[in-house]
Amino acid sequence: MKTPIRVAVTGAAGQIGYSLLFRIASGAMFGPDQPVILQLIEAPIEKALQALGGVAMELDDCAFPLLKGIVQTSDPAVGFKEANWCLLVGAKPRGPGMERADLLKDNGKIFIGQGQVIDAVAAADARVCVVGNPANTNCMIAASQAKRLPAERFTAMVRLDQNRAQTQLAKKAGVNLTAVKDIFIYGNHSPTMFPSFAHATINGKPATSVINDTAWLQGPFCETVGKRGAAIIAARGLSSAASAANALVDHVRSLVTPGAVHSLAVKSEGRYGFDANVWAGMPVRTTTPGSYEVITSYQMDDFAKSKIAATNKELVDERSFVADMIK
Ligand code: NAD
Ligand code: LMR
Repeated sequence: MKTPIRVAVTGAAGQIGYSLLFRIASGAMFGPDQPVILQLIEAPIEKALQALGGVAMELDDCAFPLLKGIVQTSDPAVGFKEANWCLLVGAKPRGPGMERADLLKDNGKIFIGQGQVIDAVAAADARVCVVGNPANTNCMIAASQAKRLPAERFTAMVRLDQNRAQTQLAKKAGVNLTAVKDIFIYGNHSPTMFPSFAHATINGKPATSVINDTAWLQGPFCETVGKRGAAIIAARGLSSAASAANALVDHVRSLVTPGAVHSLAVKSEGRYGFDANVWAGMPVRTTTPGSYEVITSYQMDDFAKSKIAATNKELVDERSFVADMIK
């Protein structure tokens, strides 16, 4: 039996938490032979902590063989202690009519404090994945507070967008989902994101030749993927939760599977024309569990360059908006 890993989850009693924790404890995230200790962190609010107690009872009642312990706390120093994975979900979701960037000032400060505590108390091999919106900039904020953990350990989730794009392409082409490969998300987790269809394949052929409808790919396809979160909020009155939890399972599962190619928002380092200091979605290949290299070989056409310029501008603007906060 492997040694249990410690997985800290913030916002554990929230919507996403309720879909996520059971998947982690069942082995879907780290594999069927990897025991886990869940370190569940909630806001210091009586109602939230009471709800967390109920979630912990339900986890117990599932009798998951891989679940070796549950910590419940509102103290980040306890929750992140020795954590190997820090899954930062806890933050305010947007409501109807809001953009994710509208959450920046409220949610941004959460990630200052959490970035500092993670850097101080998490395990030496800690990895941090940010889901709370606006996820890219919150991830940049958390990473800005770290002195010990390197910036590449901080990633934000654009996997939900990748999954959405894959499904839209499969539906349009009338093929099974698994026929669609190499669809990656560039830039911000916002309507400006760019699902780069030009490099996607369907049954091994370029998606652009199988679908053969440039107007649809450049227009309704990009728009549907970019505005899917808002469409779900309009329909449910609440932001996506089960699909977001599922995407986080995929994000981490791909990140611990050497050879996997997938989209992560990472520190750009100037790649693909992004500003060096923003966290932007781009294609990566997992090298060793928890580590990755950015795939830099894709050539961008003029349409792709203009989409990347727009999403980069938004990320730079968000960074300027919180510049005072991260000093
Ligand atoms: P929710 O309101 O149901 O749950 C959030 C939970 O976080 C609450 O229980 C709250 O008490 C807790 N929380 C707040 N501040 C905290 C703190 N400082 N420490 C620990 N816990 C804290 O929201 P949700 O639907 O679960 O969504 C959570 C976040 O994820 C939102 O910001 C949402 O916009 C975002 N989201 C991101 C994606 C993505 O693809 N990146 C997808 C869906 C949702
Ligand atoms: C999503 O994409 O569904 C989430 O980021 C929630 C939102 O605010 O859109």
